[in-house]
Amino acid sequence: MRAAVYRRFGGPDVVSVEEVPRPEPGPGDVLVRVHASTVSRADHRARSRDVPRGLGLLAAAGIGAFRPSRRVLGMDVAGTVEAVGADVRALAVGDEVIAMLGGRFGGHAEYVVVPADGAIALKPRSMGFEDAVTVVFGGYTARGFFNRTTVGPGTRVLVNGAAGAVGTAAVQLAHAAGAVVTAVCRASDAALVTRLGADLVIDYATTDFAAEGASYDVVVDCVGNAGYERARVVLEPGGALLLVVADLVGLLLAPVRARRAGITIVTSPDAGAADLEAVAALADDGAYVAVSDRTFDHADVREEHAYVDEGHKKGNVVLRLAADQPGWSWTRMPR
Ligand SMILES: NC(=O)c1ccc[n+]([C@@H]2O[C@H](COP(=O)([O-])OP(=O)(O)OC[C@H]3O[C@@H](n4cnc5c(N)ncnc54)[C@H](OP(=O)(O)O)[C@@H]3O)[C@@H](O)[C@H]2O)c1
Repeated sequence: MRAAVYRRFGGPDVVSVEEVPRPEPGPGDVLVRVHASTVSRADHRARSRDVPRGLGLLAAAGIGAFRPSRRVLGMDVAGTVEAVGADVRALAVGDEVIAMLGGRFGGHAEYVVVPADGAIALKPRSMGFEDAVTVVFGGYTARGFFNRTTVGPGTRVLVNGAAGAVGTAAVQLAHAAGAVVTAVCRASDAALVTRLGADLVIDYATTDFAAEGASYDVVVDCVGNAGYERARVVLEPGGALLLVVADLVGLLLAPVRARRAGITIVTSPDAGAADLEAVAALADDGAYVAVSDRTFDHADVREEHAYVDEGHKKGNVVLRLAADQPGWSWTRMPR
């Protein structure tokens, strides 16, 4: 099969599309033929070792110390189940699925093995593969963080970095839950985040959200510059700071800071297959839309990495591995 492989850390030119052996599913796995993935911020971080301050050693345990431990990047996929292991009952050949591979990576290849009890769900029926894959990385992460607090009707949620993959997901999920959403992004992204459900927009280039006098129940930091010092000023007592990005100091001090300030500080998501199912259901209800910036073909994966490296993507940048299909197929009909 063809896969985008990297054997050393560095810029986009360390990635090349090569022929590699197709992975074999074990008894509890499914083999997915990948139609679409994305080049995410996580792929950028793993490829370039651009990790938050102080987290180099911790990251090395996952991505490798001297050379990459996982040759194929790609945390998310949308595709078709090609084969199932002997013990798999929940999924069948032909099912159209979305999956979050997380730190296992492997999505930038024509086939990937996914544990059937992992973060895998039927894809939204209303979306083709290239749209469906955009709900995975952000939807899984944002729901995973929201799962550790309460977001419901009237909850005031501030999303910092609202135009990115996780930010656009957080805005949509909070809006769908009935929250009052304030989005922090650049002025040119105001229309996008408003369309996704933001009630208020703050342009980070001209306005400091922490100096506005407003207060929030939940602050979601998807950038890394709205950590404890800024967020505690605007958080209500008992509120929650969701640190989607945090450096070593932010991680280590979270428990003591949370106790001192009387808030919750969340530093990791709690998500699984049910969260992918929930986002897919929202998508089929029209309450969650695909946010896709650009689409690149597999052969152009280096250009895609270079684009993501610029750091300004809107939502998701899709990697197309196979021609897209209609939103449903006959394989789903008999079930
Ligand atoms: N903890 C976890 O499990 C987890 C999971 C997924 C992702 N992450 C991390 O979460 C972060 C966000 O991921 P992502 O996929 O959403 O990244 P992304 O798609 O690159 O989004 C980041 C967004 O932030 C905007 N931005 C840059 N500077 C900003 C500022 N000062 N204020 C507001 N917005 C700003 C960028 O656009 P402009 O520059 O054009 O404004 C971009 O749209 C990454 O650091 C990623 O590594 C963590």
